[in-house]
Amino acid sequence: MTRFTRRQALTLLGGSAVAAACAGQTPGPVSPEGVAGTDAFVPLHELAQAKGLRFGTAMSAGQLDDLRYLEIVRRECGVLVAENAHKLYTILPQPDAWNFAPGDALADFAQDNGLGMRGHTLIWSHPRWLPDWLNETEFATAGEAEAFLDSYIGRVAGRYSPFIYSWDAINEAVDPATGELRETPFTRAMGPEAIDYAFFAAKEAAPGATLAYNDYMSWEGGHETHRTGVLRLLERLISNGAPIDALGIQSHSNEDMPNEYTPEKQRAWRAFVDEVVGMGLDIYLTEFDVNDTDLGPDIEMRDRLIASYTRDYLDLMLSYPQTKELLAWGMVDKHSWLQGFMPREDDVEKRPTLYDSNYQAKPMREAVAAALRAAPDRA
Ligand code: XIL
Repeated sequence: MTRFTRRQALTLLGGSAVAAACAGQTPGPVSPEGVAGTDAFVPLHELAQAKGLRFGTAMSAGQLDDLRYLEIVRRECGVLVAENAHKLYTILPQPDAWNFAPGDALADFAQDNGLGMRGHTLIWSHPRWLPDWLNETEFATAGEAEAFLDSYIGRVAGRYSPFIYSWDAINEAVDPATGELRETPFTRAMGPEAIDYAFFAAKEAAPGATLAYNDYMSWEGGHETHRTGVLRLLERLISNGAPIDALGIQSHSNEDMPNEYTPEKQRAWRAFVDEVVGMGLDIYLTEFDVNDTDLGPDIEMRDRLIASYTRDYLDLMLSYPQTKELLAWGMVDKHSWLQGFMPREDDVEKRPTLYDSNYQAKPMREAVAAALRAAPDRA
């Protein structure tokens, strides 16, 4: 596979024919900001950087073969996150079967192209997403569970240190139905301390990396218990002195559609975010996309609602100077995990990301750009 450096890619993009080929078949207008490759076009990561933010995307190792996708990532992003390659189910699918190849390939791509990298995630504290062999493990003592966490986290976070500048130390530990911690082999052996312990182990292995607790509580109706549980967990981590820097707000909207982001829900959501920043934590928007499962099939209508929601959601979130990261969960519709998750009944392709499946920028990209331009400066 030919790899271009970021500089080479940008030089290539200076030629409009090549830019058009990279962005899609025809050099049609992509936004009022201009066509990719022209002077008017400003990459999202530059707009973000100008405000003290980082912009990037998740990507799977398989997508390294999609050259048109890579052009978009190189052009728009300053940060990469592995969609699945740094998860435990990829790295350690069986005991002692270490598999770093996909995670290394993505880290190499990031490094070769001058992108930063976030790590997602050291422990996905959700039995559905732990390999069976681990779910079936009964650690005899808390010490045995600690030894596993030390060795796994030490090996993974240590391998990519200092390149990976930030990790989701723990993902989705709170059960949205009860607000309590989900049970895992680690909590069975160690109790809630398992969560704190993972943060300490991550700090030891990657002392320079910021550490986040990441979860999918959102502004949506029915997320109240989840939000309360997450606040309780954050308070616990902080009072136990765990080295946590930020809350990762995944920013998927799944149950509620973009036109259901009402002022009332926004007020309740703002109260939650106020609590989080009041604890001294930063905010990372780690997995932004917009699900359209229940919207009608009309493309123009969906794109309009999604773009309008995107602008409103990001305006609110970027109004907090504590919000430091904006990561999209994929940049091109056809590669979005949402095509398979909560599928549409009419089987029409979803439009959850910034670029359509022909690699053309959509109104959603314009909404992200506008929100970044409007965002207040942060240190
Ligand atoms: C998803 C990936 O996008 C899918 O490819 C995979 O099959 C399952 O995981 N919250 C998270 C992410 O923290 O890791 C999930 O990613 C999406 C929801």
